[in-house]
Amino acid sequence: MTVRISSLESGSLNTDSLDPSSLDPSSLDPISLDPSRQDAGNLTDPEVIDLHPAPADMQRLVIEGLSRSPKQLPAWFLYDDEGSRLFELICEQPEYSLTRTETALLESEAAAIAAALGQGVLMEFGAGSARKVGPLLEAMALQAAPAGATQAGPIPARPAYVALDISASHLQEACDRLQRRHPQVPMLGICCDYSQLEALPSHPLLNGQAHLGFFPGSSLGNFEPAAAQELLAQFRHLLGPGGKLLIGIDQPKASERLEAAYNDRAGVSAAFARNLLTRLNRDLAGDFNPQAFRYRARWQPAESHIEMALVSEGPQSVRLAGHTWTFADDEALITETSAKYSADAFLALAAPAGWHGAARWSDPNDDLCLHLLVQSD
Ligand SMILES: C[S@@+](CC[C@H](N)C(=O)[O-])C[C@H]1O[C@@H](n2cnc3c(N)ncnc32)[C@H](O)[C@@H]1O
Repeated sequence: MTVRISSLESGSLNTDSLDPSSLDPSSLDPISLDPSRQDAGNLTDPEVIDLHPAPADMQRLVIEGLSRSPKQLPAWFLYDDEGSRLFELICEQPEYSLTRTETALLESEAAAIAAALGQGVLMEFGAGSARKVGPLLEAMALQAAPAGATQAGPIPARPAYVALDISASHLQEACDRLQRRHPQVPMLGICCDYSQLEALPSHPLLNGQAHLGFFPGSSLGNFEPAAAQELLAQFRHLLGPGGKLLIGIDQPKASERLEAAYNDRAGVSAAFARNLLTRLNRDLAGDFNPQAFRYRARWQPAESHIEMALVSEGPQSVRLAGHTWTFADDEALITETSAKYSADAFLALAAPAGWHGAARWSDPNDDLCLHLLVQSD
């Protein structure tokens, strides 16, 4: 199966209100709404719209981050191709249970979550490999057309899926793989920076149904609280009136468990962090020696976050981005933080962004919580 990529300039963005009641049904795409066209074999390959996210000014961000005290770089720098591969490996380490816990919770609670979500277009922010959404799509399809039910009256809307990700190559692969598994679910990929997107592109799949956001993986924890709140407000804006958001949030737990989860014995987390230095050497003409830094993950209770850092083994200076940077002995370069929120703390963070909790689901150990947020007004 090939993926069709279309390219949109920002002028073709739909900046109209996303209120479904304001939409003209005659403008809806017959292919995505006609169930006979959605059967396996009839569905066209998933389309990927490339909104050409502006290339980040990496040099400026690196200069800013290394001029700070303590030195700190944006977490997304960790995800070049090798970083993405190492992240998938981290998810398989015995100490790192977040992915397994969330996947199991989504599987066991899929029917209840689908009932609470209702029907609509499921939009995953930062879909990555899109490996978690399958059970939800199946449960939503079952609710739209329960097994054994005979159809009388209008055919209910079926679920549709939209994957948003900044990485075009990952997005293509993810949409392709997911479409093979769920041939009856209409799908669309949007290559974009979701934090900068002013409006969703105009596309039939996005018209006429509620927009249901999906943000798993506790990715919100990688943002400082103020930025996390801004992102929640941005999601509310993109989802439009009536939109809902299902979000996975890792909860605080014993510091020993958290520190082990982010510093696995096999050394994959350390390799993931050191790969950042290799990436910087490659992209910004640097001469970091990754082995001259040791990796550290430590729980910081005041911030309720895990801080991941590379710590300088002795004083050293490094050339990068046209500058010389000095590191004192034991000085840290923070590569990432991952905040953990209790249910109450998370809902307090979400409230000023215009969301309140409608339902939540936790695993038996209360390690992770899936919150369903609805809009406050
Ligand atoms: C850690 S992965 C999570 C993947 C998946 N949602 C999960 O829970 O397993 C984060 C993904 O978000 C994407 N991403 C990060 N920042 C983004 C942004 N600003 N806009 C769009 N995608 C982003 C990355 O490319 C990556 O695929």
